[in-house]
Amino acid sequence: MFDFLKKKLNLMHGQTPIVKLERLSKELGHSLYVKRDDLTGMALSGNKIRKLEYHFYQAKQQDANCVVTCGGIQSNHARATAVLARQFGWRPVLILGGSEPKDACQGNLLLDKLLDAEIRWTDDNSLFRYSDDLLEEAAEDLRAKGYRPYVIPMGGTDTTGLSGYISAGLEIREQEKKMHVAFDAVFCAVGTGGTLGGLILCKELIDWRIRIYGVNVMLDADYFHDRIDLLIRAYKDEHTLTAAHHAKDIQMIDGFVGTGYAKSTPEVAELIKRVAVAEGVFLDPVYTAKAFQGMLRQIDDGMFSPESNILFLHTGGMFGLFAQADGLFL
Ligand SMILES: Cc1ncc(COP(=O)(O)O)c(C=O)c1O
Repeated sequence: MFDFLKKKLNLMHGQTPIVKLERLSKELGHSLYVKRDDLTGMALSGNKIRKLEYHFYQAKQQDANCVVTCGGIQSNHARATAVLARQFGWRPVLILGGSEPKDACQGNLLLDKLLDAEIRWTDDNSLFRYSDDLLEEAAEDLRAKGYRPYVIPMGGTDTTGLSGYISAGLEIREQEKKMHVAFDAVFCAVGTGGTLGGLILCKELIDWRIRIYGVNVMLDADYFHDRIDLLIRAYKDEHTLTAAHHAKDIQMIDGFVGTGYAKSTPEVAELIKRVAVAEGVFLDPVYTAKAFQGMLRQIDDGMFSPESNILFLHTGGMFGLFAQADGLFL
């Protein structure tokens, strides 16, 4: 393992499994596998935990006793951060987009509330445009109150969090060898870009013969292409890495945001049900179902030969399903 990946806590319970989706593979005429990063834990489940292993290592080094982060009202990242903060006996402070629901809350927000995380509400526009400023203001305020806050950016995505999915890429590579399977392509959802960015950097570091595709669930492909490019360059500078980086390695699939971020459509709901019925695996309506849609479109468009092995990275988000129960037609 690369030395720069060692500065982390071990918060996962070993490697997450890669399993073949037998019935969908038959239906689609390709070997389709899923990497179950939805099984990184329970309350801590999903892709965020891999990034938080690195952030919380840094937070401990800095003797923090409080963590501040931000996200949408149903943010998986905010929930995972709050859970972990409580596991360390620290104060979780979450800046969430939206407003306090009048009715009973659901999904991730319910867990945030049970954890008694301090929630500071802001409007969505300010959250997405000025999140770094909002985080810094909150940290200032907490310092003035005597706390030692550690700030984690939206989605845990920065040069610290990126290490999480470089490590995950190495894990997939190891599993390929054990399973005697070479994946031709891997697909994942893109919300802040840390998951895709980490996998791409891993590919560049180990000269991995795999195509890596990200499906954006908000904004557009150009935005994420530039953001991930900058992130990878910053990481390489920080760690003085010499592996070549090619902006063309960042392959985005656009067109699956649907009616907007975190908004479900009847097609998304149908797909969640189709995968659940075929395989007993639940996708979430905000990230993984849209990414899965993007992958299916590439397969339908004939992008892969029949003997291809295709891997879908399941990044979690299960609690988001409950928050959208009404929209899921059941
Ligand atoms: C369940 C889930 N999948 C995928 C993503 C996207 O990951 P990233 O923010 O690293 O792009 C997120 C968060 O943004 C998420 O919560």
